[in-house]
Amino acid sequence: MGNTLAYKILQNHLLDGTLSPGNEITIKMDQTLTQDSTGTMVYLQLEAMNVDKIQTELSVAYIDHNTLQTGFENADDHAFIKSVAQRHGVLFSKPGNGICHQLHLENYGKPGKTLLGSDSHTPTGGGLGMIAIGAGGLDVAMAMAKGTYSLTVPKVINVELTGKLRPWVSAKDVILYVLQKLTVKGGVGKIVEYTGDGVKSLSVTDRATITNMGAELGATTSIFPSDENTQNYLKDQGRPDDFIPLAADPDAVYDETLKVNLSELTPLAAMPHSPDNVDTIKNIGKIKVDQVAIGSCTNASYTDLMKVAAILKGNKIHQDVSLVISPGSSKILSKLAQNGALADMINAGARIIENACGPCIGMGQSPKSGAVSLRTFNRNFKGRSGTLDADVYLVSPETAAISAITGVLTDGMECGKELPEIQSVDFSFNDNFIIYPEGTNKQNTEVEMGPNIKPFPRNTALNDVINATVVLHAGNNITTDDIMPSDSRLLPYRSNVPHLANYCFEKIDSNFSARCKEAGNCAIIGGENYGQGSSREHAALAPLYLGVKFVLAKSFARIHRSNLINSGIMPLVFENPADYDDFAIGQKLVIENAKQQVKENVIVIKNIDNGKEYRTLTNFSDLEINMIICGGKINSIKGE
Ligand code: F3S
Repeated sequence: MGNTLAYKILQNHLLDGTLSPGNEITIKMDQTLTQDSTGTMVYLQLEAMNVDKIQTELSVAYIDHNTLQTGFENADDHAFIKSVAQRHGVLFSKPGNGICHQLHLENYGKPGKTLLGSDSHTPTGGGLGMIAIGAGGLDVAMAMAKGTYSLTVPKVINVELTGKLRPWVSAKDVILYVLQKLTVKGGVGKIVEYTGDGVKSLSVTDRATITNMGAELGATTSIFPSDENTQNYLKDQGRPDDFIPLAADPDAVYDETLKVNLSELTPLAAMPHSPDNVDTIKNIGKIKVDQVAIGSCTNASYTDLMKVAAILKGNKIHQDVSLVISPGSSKILSKLAQNGALADMINAGARIIENACGPCIGMGQSPKSGAVSLRTFNRNFKGRSGTLDADVYLVSPETAAISAITGVLTDGMECGKELPEIQSVDFSFNDNFIIYPEGTNKQNTEVEMGPNIKPFPRNTALNDVINATVVLHAGNNITTDDIMPSDSRLLPYRSNVPHLANYCFEKIDSNFSARCKEAGNCAIIGGENYGQGSSREHAALAPLYLGVKFVLAKSFARIHRSNLINSGIMPLVFENPADYDDFAIGQKLVIENAKQQVKENVIVIKNIDNGKEYRTLTNFSDLEINMIICGGKINSIKGE
């Protein structure tokens, strides 16, 4: 029985465990990437680990999320990351260089390598034939410190491509189609592997658009083979020696297969407010458009923007539309400037903004109230644009550009306009935006911690008796965004947990943080699916800072449960869910003989106010028991 490409790469990197779905394995991690929004915490964690030398082949710190510098906070973060990068031997990509995933593809991604990134769209690297996985910051810090990463072996889905895309239909439509078929839950616990004849008609940047939005399927990662197109792409980027051919065995066996005939696809859009709410543009109809935003790590490649320029050339943006374009990288912007495409965009009335995430993360360019915004990005959850009542549609660059001219959502196949073939160009390697570490001698490098950088909050080892006051009695489906909001007001404080903690649970209970500060040791009562949504570590770090010792809920979302344990906060599950009603804010709880109970995996909580005892389920693994007793993952690694 042949092997899938994903399993071949995992097997090559296997350090511990058996490569079979559902098993825990540890693999060698070749590369890591961070962006500034999550990166400050990653490097604070790395500092807390007291690591002498990072163990990866290559680690890069990109600055692309919070590049707006209206106050000192973002600049402080950038200076901090730059100094820590110097100290630990990490490459630093200055703000203005571009978006982490586009840059990594251009400059550092290599077929057959493993990459762990503190950003959920790290699977973009799968377009080059890498196993590229997004993870929480602490996992990325650990990967740098130890050169390893542990994961549950995913199943592998085969998406078999045949045919060839027609003009006006692009890679974005391919992944929107896959999202329509598989939904935002369809990739959970799986790797999506693309095979079939249709693969050769897609360039590396097309493939990267598809693997990028594999994150929206919930997949661990997505991967394409490495072939002649990969070789050409690496040659164009001035890195021909990084090419190796890679493919699945012809008789590889997959857990599921989805067949997609590229020739049959038409332009699609993901309608508000989910990336899998997909229909054809023809079916959606000619809705009036207020804003068009082109860019992001999904669709800001040279080819994408050359197509946009060709559509805009000689035309005028509709008077009711604001068109913003953010190129994916400095190299792309430079080429567009050299060949006149940038002038074509500007002359049509487009606003060119910095090579950065910008509007994708809600940093600027929020549409007007009630607007329809077409975006070439990857997410359209309510409020992500910064405007709560805006309707965001996810579309291809071609659809975005033609709609910016017509002022209504437009199917380019029906406009009668010919699209030119975009030729690839020689980019040659340009590292003028990169700062290389001068050495890894820690004594010689001062870490620059401006007033916005506060130390990473650390827990203490578990006490034998835990007294805690109930500070919140929350309902079902509490999201990590409910716990720790992340908007343009708070994003500049990602390295400042004490400041963020003031806003913890503010959407649900504006007195939460004040109550915690008064109580000292705290407990949270939750309903079903506590901590669902984004993998945000700050949703565990802010409660840790505020003194939360345990969360007692009906059930937990997987990643948040891990983040709580990493922080030394116990996630406890009601043995009898009906007990939830016995608890109220202000009640005093106690866990006696806590260490022994954690080891035995049964914890009994006594409610002093009503005198009753409550059994809880824990299900801690041996590693988790150790982390909880030590007071979190970092303490457990350091043996504290
Ligand atoms: Fe940046 Fe948006 Fe991608 S925030 S990394 S462009 S998903």
